[in-house]
Amino acid sequence: MPTIDLPVLDPQQASQAEAPFHSTGTGRRVYVETYGCQMNVSDSEIVLGVLHQSGYERADSVEEADVVLLNTCAIRDNAEKKIHERLRHLNFFKKKREDMVIGVLGCMAERLRKDLLDKDVVDIVVGPDEYRRVPELVAGAQGGDKGIAVKLSRVETYDDIEPLRTEGISAWVSIMRGCDKFCTYCVVPFTRGRERSRSLPLITDELKRLWDTGFKEVTLLGQNVDSYRDEDNNADFADLLIASARAVPNMRIRYTTSHPQDMSDRVIEAMGEYDNICKYIHLPFQSGSDRILELMNRTYTVERYLDRIRKIREVMPDCALSTDVITGFCTETEEDHQATLDLMRTVRYDGAYMFAYSPRDNTKAYKWGDDVPDEVKKRRLDEVIALQNEIAAEINQGEIGRTHEVLVEGPSKRNASEWKGRSDTNKTVIFPHDDVRGYVVGDLVKVRIDRSTSATLFGELV
Ligand code: SAH
Ligand code: SF4
Ligand code: F3S
Repeated sequence: MPTIDLPVLDPQQASQAEAPFHSTGTGRRVYVETYGCQMNVSDSEIVLGVLHQSGYERADSVEEADVVLLNTCAIRDNAEKKIHERLRHLNFFKKKREDMVIGVLGCMAERLRKDLLDKDVVDIVVGPDEYRRVPELVAGAQGGDKGIAVKLSRVETYDDIEPLRTEGISAWVSIMRGCDKFCTYCVVPFTRGRERSRSLPLITDELKRLWDTGFKEVTLLGQNVDSYRDEDNNADFADLLIASARAVPNMRIRYTTSHPQDMSDRVIEAMGEYDNICKYIHLPFQSGSDRILELMNRTYTVERYLDRIRKIREVMPDCALSTDVITGFCTETEEDHQATLDLMRTVRYDGAYMFAYSPRDNTKAYKWGDDVPDEVKKRRLDEVIALQNEIAAEINQGEIGRTHEVLVEGPSKRNASEWKGRSDTNKTVIFPHDDVRGYVVGDLVKVRIDRSTSATLFGELV
């Protein structure tokens, strides 16, 4: 999954924290711009929910807004560069509108803290576990006081906050926050803090409400969903999946991200058992070399990884798979790189998110240096991408003649006479719009595939 963050309070503090209710927002408009992973998308909805309670309205652009918040990502250097660039741009707006409040939220806020506040353009800096304090900090900034809140919490899950979601058919639902894995290259355990899970009954209640308000698909989110644990209800992630599938039997249920070490047989079997749990798994492998996996502290070997793939395919032969790969991690040799390509040839992923290693300050690997030259990292990345495109094109070629049940999302961007949707296996499917049958966004339609590329399937309604 692309990235995330939050601050923490104990439950008692949490309820106190709700108390100072700042209705300072009445009539004011807030625009939130989201970067990074789906957890940030979900967090932005939580921030909007918190601000909404304080009387703020959502704005659709910077031009319309009194308050502009960037919810940021720190996973790779280029993610942070993008934000610095955006802040320079926002400076022009602020010069024209001095009363505009500009805030940085999310993982970069947590990582850079006061350094961000030192920039003229930034008024408030809020880490992922302190979003309850956003109204108070915005109010302070309106009075001319810059503010920062970046404490991480062991308990904050925003369980009682109603996220302000964008209308649509797909919703993100965070089931846990933080990460305890400490992969040696990764900032997330530092920007998001310790792992903590929401309560199972509150999650299933939320799913029922989402179904009742017209959502057709949910994605349960966590950096490592397999370590979900609700002690009060003695439930693990497999229990949550089963309870979710039963609570909303007609809702499509997806989740991300699984960890190859922690993904249990029970999770895989639960997926196989319930039709409404989508047959798609994102299972990052990062490297095909056991030596590099160990250096990364991924806690599994290639053999363990392939054992999970075998189990998945035994239970769900048609399950689609995607992954994350890093090229050029410190000390990676040509042989290690070939092992990565070999693993991709063995598994044959439907999709992949592929990255060149970006050293992050404070992580364990940072101290080991960055010895693979940029051009080598880049060349290896290009090889990984080329191989993946070839494999995905071949897999999608094999889809021709098959029929998929597609959840209709709306007109395709390129051509309004065509509509798009997604298959159970998470593939984008394009099909002609058909006024006669009059299907609408959110319907399930059957599409027979007659053409494909490495990224998209095309077909006719049946
Ligand atoms: N929790 C998820 C991943 C979240 S971050 C998991 O463990 O799979 C998303 C992806 O970003 C990671 O899977 C990894 O491939 C990539 N990534 C994380 N840190 C990185 C870094 N320092 N350089 C390059 N890629 C990185
Ligand atoms: Fe980062 Fe590893 Fe946690 Fe994923 S599991 S968020 S890669 S530390
Ligand atoms: Fe997500 Fe980026 Fe943070 S990937 S967890 S927003 S570092």
